Amino acid sequence: MKRLSCRIAEMLASQRRGHLSFHTPGHKRAGADITELSYSDNLLSPSGVLAAAEREIAEILGAARSFLLTDGSTCGVHAILYALKRAGVRRIALSAFSHRSVTEGCGILGLETETIPPVREEGIPLQPTERELAEALERADALLLTSPDYYGNFPPLHFARKLCDAAGKPLVIDGAHGAHLHFSSDYAGRFADLWVDGVHKSLPALTQGAVVSARGPWAERLREGVTAFRTTSPSYPIMASVEYAVKYPRNPAVERAAETLKRELGAVRNADWSKVLILFGEKCAQAQTELERHGIFPEFNDGNYLMFYLSPCTRLRDLRKLRRLVNKLPRGRLTDRTRERAAGDGERVFLPLGEAEGKICAQECGMFPPCLPVFCTGERLTREGIVRLLKAENTYGLDGGRVLVFSKERDDS
Ligand SMILES: Cc1ncc(COP(=O)(O)O)c(C=O)c1O
Repeated sequence: MKRLSCRIAEMLASQRRGHLSFHTPGHKRAGADITELSYSDNLLSPSGVLAAAEREIAEILGAARSFLLTDGSTCGVHAILYALKRAGVRRIALSAFSHRSVTEGCGILGLETETIPPVREEGIPLQPTERELAEALERADALLLTSPDYYGNFPPLHFARKLCDAAGKPLVIDGAHGAHLHFSSDYAGRFADLWVDGVHKSLPALTQGAVVSARGPWAERLREGVTAFRTTSPSYPIMASVEYAVKYPRNPAVERAAETLKRELGAVRNADWSKVLILFGEKCAQAQTELERHGIFPEFNDGNYLMFYLSPCTRLRDLRKLRRLVNKLPRGRLTDRTRERAAGDGERVFLPLGEAEGKICAQECGMFPPCLPVFCTGERLTREGIVRLLKAENTYGLDGGRVLVFSKERDDS
């Protein structure tokens, strides 16, 4: 591979000798983990190496400005929401399957949401349809999409761009799972006014490394948002890794091998080569245990599917091992298919999960990862969904195995 020219890493490497640390961090070890010093620039008002790195990243991503983040896509999402709010946006159209950084960010900033109801197919959260987007945007000042989502599906991006242009409203994309797509035609930055790239998830950056970008006049608003939410003690190893990852070349061999693997394993059809999703149904936990016994760790087990997250750094021999082992594993059936929506009424009370079948969910809850709801607010709790939650290693939205439900159902008769 051609040597990448990474400004931050080069700056860090050139300063190691004779460096006595009378500055933070407290470990006092010379090396890459320094703070903002005379030679290392300053992320709040960059004018040296960090400014150059951000400029080059923006050029690669097709942005007017890009900002390095060391606090995950979450920080980028919050910075974008802040920029929208400052520009007068009051209500944002979004999918019920938006990440919690989006919904909680809206809550923190007092932004209202126009939520597109959750629809799943074969247990997989669906992206909103064109019609749903159009209807939701009529009642909102901005549109926020997740592209691609954790399951490797895209919203109707061309349609969304045209819709926002016609309405004169901004389009925002949460690209927490799409940083590896900046070479391709369905990259968030080709459509959005403001977008975040979760560089650490699908490119070779350290965990928490991300970039948030904007085009046109949104760049200045975004700068304000980034300043409001970003840490004042950014990690240089993370920043260096983000620059490296964004400059990392495409790996067509892995992309091709991933598509072949998906066909050979009968994986779910999706549009993002990096997300290999295999249905194991009720045998998910058994399959995960068996794979892990052989050193293969999937990204998540949602009780129906195991998901294997690839990147340009995935080794072809590891894909071969994955194929060999997965081929030997028994597959199960989808365990949890249907959802019914109903209007809850009365108090919101906690019930042990095991006693909540048939009740109406009063607070979204699910597994973590993928941090997507098994039950959304207003959905009836099914036995199958409860079993998935009871078996899950990590959950969110529950309190010690208890779920928040409505005490009554509204009687509309
Ligand atoms: C769709 C989506 N958006 C945002 C985030 C937040 O990203 P981070 O963990 O980098 O803060 C995630 C995390 O998984 C996500 O799945």
